Amino acid sequence: MTALVTGAGSGIGQAAARALAAAGARVAVTELPDRLERAEATVAEIQAAGGEALPVPLDVRDLASITECVARVADAGGGRLDVLVNNAGINVRQPAFEVTEEAWDLVLDTNLKGLFFAAQAAGRVMRDQAPPGGSIVNVASTMGLVGYYDRTAYCASKAGAVNLSRVLAIEWAPHQIRVNAVCPAFVETPLTSALFANEAIKTDILHRTPAGRLVMPDEVAAAIVFLAGPASRMVTGAALTVDGGWTAI
Ligand SMILES: NC(=O)c1ccc[n+]([C@@H]2O[C@H](COP(=O)([O-])OP(=O)(O)OC[C@H]3O[C@@H](n4cnc5c(N)ncnc54)[C@H](O)[C@@H]3O)[C@@H](O)[C@H]2O)c1
Repeated sequence: MTALVTGAGSGIGQAAARALAAAGARVAVTELPDRLERAEATVAEIQAAGGEALPVPLDVRDLASITECVARVADAGGGRLDVLVNNAGINVRQPAFEVTEEAWDLVLDTNLKGLFFAAQAAGRVMRDQAPPGGSIVNVASTMGLVGYYDRTAYCASKAGAVNLSRVLAIEWAPHQIRVNAVCPAFVETPLTSALFANEAIKTDILHRTPAGRLVMPDEVAAAIVFLAGPASRMVTGAALTVDGGWTAI
């Protein structure tokens, strides 16, 4: 099984790459070209643990980069691509009155446009390979299901990722391609470490979480491995929360 993980040099993507490799996948650990050393470090770690992985540069905001990356990964996989984990993501926190066009475009281009075109490129390979099929896991967020302060662009992008997953699930089911979203609440990663340094925000987040703690990257990775593999073969178009009960309230 060949899997491609976007933004896999850090946080959830790195945990997903490790977990997929431990589950037996050959993993393309992709990362922004100017951060490729992070992907190389993840690959070295996977290989040291006996897994198979390769580092590949990818900027999901650049369609040519997506095309090149997907072709390279499929070639390395003997023409197959079985799993895409659309994990690359970014957030710019701004109150709605202060949102800039630059920040809006950066967040939407990365989290929604990039996610869709990576799915399209991988989906075409999955459709055309023999036998056809595959699994696409889009890393959305609880913020694709409910709102939260200072995140208009981020919440819009993640809601888009959730609903886009349903459309692709419907359109691509005849090609044996499943498409699901994973919706974590706040996870302890480099994306959020500065946020948790703010005691008021941390207290608010913990108050909203019945489980009473932050999500760990490995817990999101476990959901990704489930949706990527055969145990979830009848699951498509789902939005699986990994949120300690945040959205159950
Ligand atoms: N950390 C959280 O609390 C949390 C919660 C819910 C959802 N998420 C989502 O999980 C995903 C991973 O987040 P994380 O917390 O691990 O963040 P992170 O910053 O640790 O990792 C994100 C990775 O994406 C890469 N990236 C950024 N822009 C890119 C681009 N244009 N092309 C390719 N790669 C790019 C970064 O280099 C980085 O390695 C994101 O989609 C994020 O929105 C995070």
